[in-house]
Amino acid sequence: MKSVLYIHLFCIFAAIMENEKMKIYIGSDHAGVELKTLVKEHFSDCFDFEDAGTFSTESVDYPDFAHVVAKNVLKDSQSLGILICGTGNGMAITANKHAGIRAALCWAPEIAALAKQHNNANIIVLPARFIEPEAAFATLQSFFDATFEGGRHQRRIDKINI
Ligand code: RB5
Repeated sequence: MKSVLYIHLFCIFAAIMENEKMKIYIGSDHAGVELKTLVKEHFSDCFDFEDAGTFSTESVDYPDFAHVVAKNVLKDSQSLGILICGTGNGMAITANKHAGIRAALCWAPEIAALAKQHNNANIIVLPARFIEPEAAFATLQSFFDATFEGGRHQRRIDKINI
């Protein structure tokens, strides 16, 4: 109940500040499709989701979806991405092949906040087979609420690309 109120207030604040919903590019493989649906429902008032698929539990290859989301996030600098697979590792490994993408595998609110504060992650990756939906929602909320701290963290980010 408290978290629903919190999300509602967050949405109102975000709408007032930005006058439009932030774009979120989202994608999953078959292992993440169920959680992807729940995430879209849970945050439907807050964000404008563009879903790259997959849309069924039929077995697919996670890079096909990670590449689409990564390319979209790079094209739209105001956006963020969410990728979901069984462990999260396949999605994170693939998305991070794109220079400028900082995809962070997160399974708890504290890690998600730090992924934004310190790493300025532009894609959050969830491990669908190792996280309950409520924990996933809290992890995402924490990511969206956090802001990049810049300073020494920007200096470190500037050293990532090779
Ligand atoms: C699919 O079985 C699984 O390998 C995939 O979802 C992911 O965990 C890969 O990293």
